[in-house]
Amino acid sequence: MRALFGGLTLRRLVIALLVAGIVAAAQADDPSFAVMATLSNVSGEDIYNRICQGCHMAHGEGAIGAGRYPKLADDSTLASWRYAALTVLQGRNNMPAFSAPPQLEWDSPTLHLSDAQVADVVNYVRSHFGNNYKERVTADDVAKLPHPAVGAAP
Ligand code: HEC
Repeated sequence: MRALFGGLTLRRLVIALLVAGIVAAAQADDPSFAVMATLSNVSGEDIYNRICQGCHMAHGEGAIGAGRYPKLADDSTLASWRYAALTVLQGRNNMPAFSAPPQLEWDSPTLHLSDAQVADVVNYVRSHFGNNYKERVTADDVAKLPHPAVGAAP
């Protein structure tokens, strides 16, 4: 009985390893992983087009349908760069957090943005779509804002 039990366990382990191998191979082909790998060299505009536009639309016009995605065009809330940066860092209601530590992301496709990338995309939306805020936010400015903590609810 013990040998049978041991044999089954080993078989399960082998199967688990095989499945893990298949999953790893599938992930390598997944284009979203390529996006993550190349994200470190992109501009605020690229980040907007790849990530934010999906909800806020190509010209920041927002959308109301299955959900409410506020417009960023002519958006007076963007006068506060802190509000915009905190929204990207921590998420807000139905908007995901983009600086959640990787520990919180194992089961979600949310991309992680660095402080510099948050600054770039905030600068982009504050200077496009009819917004004309001159002040430029830096990675250091963003670093001083509270970030979601490891162990916090995603
Ligand atoms: C999955 C959809 C989704 C994505 C992707 C997304 N957002 Fe949002 N965003 C929302 C929703 C929903 C809100 C409204 C949150 C609320 O209820 O106040 C919002 C709110 C905002 C606000 C506040 C606007 C206001 O007028 O209050 C800003 C700024 C913003 N998003 C910027 C961004 C940027 C920059 C990105 C890309 C890094 C981004 N969002 C990606 C869904 C999204």
